[in-house]
Amino acid sequence: MNPPILEIKNLTKKFTVNGKTLHAVQDVSFSIPHGQTLGLAGESGCGKSTIGKMIVRLINPSDGTILFNGNDISKMDGKEIHSWRRKSQMIFQNPSTSLNPRMTIEEILLEPYIIHNRGCKDERKEWILSLVDQVGLQEFHLQRLPHELSGGQKQRVAIARALALNPDLIVCDEPLSALDVSIQAQIVNLLKELQQRNKLTYLFISHDLSVMREFADHMAIMYLGHLVELAPSKLLYERPLHPYTQALLSAIPVPDPVVERKRSRIILKGEIPSPLAPPSGCPFHTRCPFVQDICRKEKPQLREVARDHFAACHFSGV
Ligand SMILES: Nc1ncnc2c1ncn2[C@@H]1O[C@H](COP(=O)(O)OP(=O)(O)O)[C@@H](O)[C@H]1O
Ligand SMILES: [Mg+2]
Repeated sequence: MNPPILEIKNLTKKFTVNGKTLHAVQDVSFSIPHGQTLGLAGESGCGKSTIGKMIVRLINPSDGTILFNGNDISKMDGKEIHSWRRKSQMIFQNPSTSLNPRMTIEEILLEPYIIHNRGCKDERKEWILSLVDQVGLQEFHLQRLPHELSGGQKQRVAIARALALNPDLIVCDEPLSALDVSIQAQIVNLLKELQQRNKLTYLFISHDLSVMREFADHMAIMYLGHLVELAPSKLLYERPLHPYTQALLSAIPVPDPVVERKRSRIILKGEIPSPLAPPSGCPFHTRCPFVQDICRKEKPQLREVARDHFAACHFSGV
């Protein structure tokens, strides 16, 4: 297997909200081998975007380390962060808000080269023509404003902008959620193609587990700021070991009607607790169908329950 390009260790982010501490991300560790995709999933509010933003250094971690090719990038300052931005990029959920509505597509794509002082006018023009070509747009799109493009085309522009400086790592933060289902497959295919061609590493964030099944090499499942399961995708989808992952997967409809009828669904009771007042012990215990006494008292550590397969549950046995 390729060596990890990205390793995060014990990454933690606390926010202060109305004088109270909110643990958005708690002690999360994982790594991504070069050229692969790690899928990061979990319900809204569990800390996925916060992890992505810490990695690209849009926000500072409260604790923990982020190693990129073995170098710690978690404590960099302004100038170093500026050059880190060339290597890591983030694509956001909604291209309508992530693209400046007053700039033409050409201006949007030129911006990274201007900010990072790369190339002369002619070179830049050549580079942006290659970018639009790579993402399946055409030269005439350069003169358009974002609102003149469809949602899928706008997301292509956001992807082109992310590619401008030849990054190694792209954090894709729910890049499909704002798009029609028919367009989603096109964007997934484009991202796969670009990954092959440019040897990209992806952290692919989504709350939709069905989208990631084909795409992600490894999967990480989060609940209330904690990593609860981590495994190669095949293992995780075939044999989820954490009750929360089992519940998430049981909610995905199966296309085969015979299998669909026989399928047992795990319905989670109750609401996700507030991260301002997290439960004692296991963060999932208030909703877990298998809760026992120990779960209310002791927080389970993420441990290797089966080979390469990590889960944070007192009862994830083999
Ligand atoms: N800037 C912020 N200030 C305060 N709380 C925040 C901030 N950003 C995120 N949060 C909180 O951190 C938690 C995780 O948020 P987020 O990472 O956006 O979750 P996700 O992307 O999984 O939906 C949520 O409870 C959210 O309200
Ligand atoms: Mg998010």
